Amino acid sequence: MTQQEKVVSGLENVLAFESKIAYIDGNKPELSIRGYDIKDIAHRLTFEDMAFLLWNGRVPSAVERTAFAAELTDLRRVPDQVLDLLRKTPASAHPMAMLRTAVSLLGALDADADDLSPDGLVRKAKSLMAKFPTIVAAQVRIQAGKTPMEPAPWLGHAANFYHMVSGRSPDEVTRKTLDTALVLYAEHETNASTFAARVVAGTQSDFYSAVVAGIGAIKGPLHGGAIDEAMRMFMEVGSPEKAAAYVDAALAAKRKLPGFGHRVYKAGDPRAAELRVMAQALADATGERKWFDVAVATEKRMGETKNIIPNVDYFAAPVLYQLGFPMDLMTNVVATSRIAGWSAHILEQYANNRLVRPRALYTGPHGLRLEQ
Ligand SMILES: CC(C)(COP(=O)(O)OP(=O)(O)OC[C@H]1O[C@@H](n2cnc3c(N)ncnc32)[C@H](O)[C@@H]1OP(=O)(O)O)[C@@H](O)C(=O)NCCC(=O)NCCS
Repeated sequence: MTQQEKVVSGLENVLAFESKIAYIDGNKPELSIRGYDIKDIAHRLTFEDMAFLLWNGRVPSAVERTAFAAELTDLRRVPDQVLDLLRKTPASAHPMAMLRTAVSLLGALDADADDLSPDGLVRKAKSLMAKFPTIVAAQVRIQAGKTPMEPAPWLGHAANFYHMVSGRSPDEVTRKTLDTALVLYAEHETNASTFAARVVAGTQSDFYSAVVAGIGAIKGPLHGGAIDEAMRMFMEVGSPEKAAAYVDAALAAKRKLPGFGHRVYKAGDPRAAELRVMAQALADATGERKWFDVAVATEKRMGETKNIIPNVDYFAAPVLYQLGFPMDLMTNVVATSRIAGWSAHILEQYANNRLVRPRALYTGPHGLRLEQ
């Protein structure tokens, strides 16, 4: 490499891998999963179907659907050590740090953690995806001073997640809304956390380590962590009438507003369009419209001033908040969905691996000598 070569800042538009999992056209905008437009599948697949599609490249048959759901249901319970860890971690710990540590502990408890055979990898993907809702729901309840719920084997993935968080079965609107939100978040090509997970898989480290890397990356406020920050912003805005002044002051102070902007989408995030409709439907159905109205007013002002698009996290924040997820635990819900996409990419990476090892353009001094 010659020193004339340019650094691609933020690896923008760099093609790091070949992949058959997701396709994004940021200009159209379009997001397709295994060839299916997200708009067509978001409301028609369950989260379990989406995971099957991601991992197998096709929608499950009726028989496969039943068998896959049964396998996941059997894998939902987590070892007592994980619940103990969640109980003993100080409440001041970041909820994503707790999730990261819980997954790391699951890896340490798995005697076959280093089994990188295709069957061994898929077993871990199923196990982790089934256990994420159990861990996150236990976090929600422990944080609220309640006892974690047992998984409910008669409920599907999304319904059971809601049940373990709230202690009751969801009505159909709630179940469908959560299921669709999980489908929408499940996969998004070479985003920062997926890239991090693939880099770790690329060293032939174990599945759990790759997922832990993904959790570490998605925690950041420029990535999945933006959902908590977006909800915090809506609370700071407080009411639709105050949105314009809030946006103007934030932009004048050169602040980046959470839930706005995207590296790839410049003409709109297709997932945000779906979540906007869902947030409105939930507000209409429940009559609780405050956060949706604040979000719409803030979006309007941002569009008038800087013309920056809302991304997936923007309308997902009022949706998840209205479903009963605490503001500080929304990124954990996002990770509970994205484990499906991470797993697909980790499996793809192991199946056709080359160590990921870029270079840095050195800009420091040369030829220094220690004093004699
Ligand atoms: C997502 C994000 C990290 C993408 O960053 P990026 O591709 O490096 O984009 P840039 O930071 O180069 O932004 C390009 C321009 O848009 C502006 N911009 C981008 N996102 C903005 C935001 N959320 N609020 C205000 N301005 C924003 C930048 O200030 C810059 O403007 P300028 O050209 O006048 O300086 C960025 O938009 C952001 O920080 N958003 C908020 C966090 C968030 O919601 N993340 C979740 C992403 S799904």
